[in-house]
Amino acid sequence: MSVIENSKLTVVGAGAVGSSVAYAALIRGSARHVALYDIATEKTEAEVLDLSHGTQFTGSSDIIGGSDISVAAGSHVVVITAGAKQKPGQTRTELAGVNAGILKSMMPQLLEVAPDAVYVIVTNPCDVLTVLAQETTGLPYERIFASGTVLDTSRLRWKLAERAGVSTSSVHAYIVGEHGDTEFPLWSHATIGTVPILDWVPLDGQPTFTPDELDQIAVDVRDAAYKVIQGKGATNYAIGLSSARIVEAVLNDEHAVMPVSTVLDQFQGVSGVALSVPSIVSASGALPIPETTFSEKEAGLFRHSADALRQVADSLR
Ligand SMILES: NC(=O)c1ccc[n+]([C@@H]2O[C@H](COP(=O)([O-])OP(=O)(O)OC[C@H]3O[C@@H](n4cnc5c(N)ncnc54)[C@H](O)[C@@H]3O)[C@@H](O)[C@H]2O)c1
Repeated sequence: MSVIENSKLTVVGAGAVGSSVAYAALIRGSARHVALYDIATEKTEAEVLDLSHGTQFTGSSDIIGGSDISVAAGSHVVVITAGAKQKPGQTRTELAGVNAGILKSMMPQLLEVAPDAVYVIVTNPCDVLTVLAQETTGLPYERIFASGTVLDTSRLRWKLAERAGVSTSSVHAYIVGEHGDTEFPLWSHATIGTVPILDWVPLDGQPTFTPDELDQIAVDVRDAAYKVIQGKGATNYAIGLSSARIVEAVLNDEHAVMPVSTVLDQFQGVSGVALSVPSIVSASGALPIPETTFSEKEAGLFRHSADALRQVADSLR
């Protein structure tokens, strides 16, 4: 595989998340062509117009869209954000039934017009929907995956960076597992530069991190979406950027390491469930990195995450 020329991204769903994915992709020049598809005709056409009106100030990307699925024809990457959204106080798994039904009927239609695309699922609960959509389509595991904990990982790195007094890009830490209530940080591998997180001495005279503080940071990251949704009804900008970044890793064949969620096959003893683990993202899709090691506690949390999601998926089959 190599870098894709004249690359095409289709974003399915023109709501708060989908329009932000398209906006981020245009600004970042993630794909040469961007398409936006949604059943809400008027809303989609308005979003496409609004986005088009700004293209003088972006790169050479262009945008089309509408409520006919043919706008997705020939896509190299399809990012799916269509569905009902999380209401205040509602967990991601409560959304599962409705969104599973939407995906089940939409995937065959999408595959008909974009048979060779890599599919990235953002709609929640994204891990469970990935397993069900993989089963519906029979796509190879690597070609259909969820954005998973890429966003949560960015939230974690931002929080650690703020506290440590370094730039976000100098924090090396991952949230893994479910994108949701059972997710957890791989603290055993978290470093700032090369320094293990608990050994880091903040530059501004602040005390060093303690295990209790790290636990609290993990909870804050896990619950971050609830806080944003409480305040503004949706999370959109950060997931827009996270998704655009995943799209770039595919279209540029980057082999970038990202915590996306693919259906696992004997990863830490887990199979048949989609969970986020550090994975190599390239033009062929996403491949979990089998050499990733967990501490004993992390392995237990990972199995707990897998069991929780297996139950939800089973209830929807
Ligand atoms: N994975 C993540 O990190 C993450 C982050 C934020 C939001 N989300 C999820 O993204 C999803 C979208 O959130 P939102 O705030 O944009 O919701 P929204 O309600 O603003 O937009 C959803 C859009 O989906 C469209 N839609 C519904 N059924 C459709 C169908 N069959 N075909 C095409 N389009 C259809 C609707 O018309 C609507 O425009 C939700 O499930 C939300 O929980 C995921």
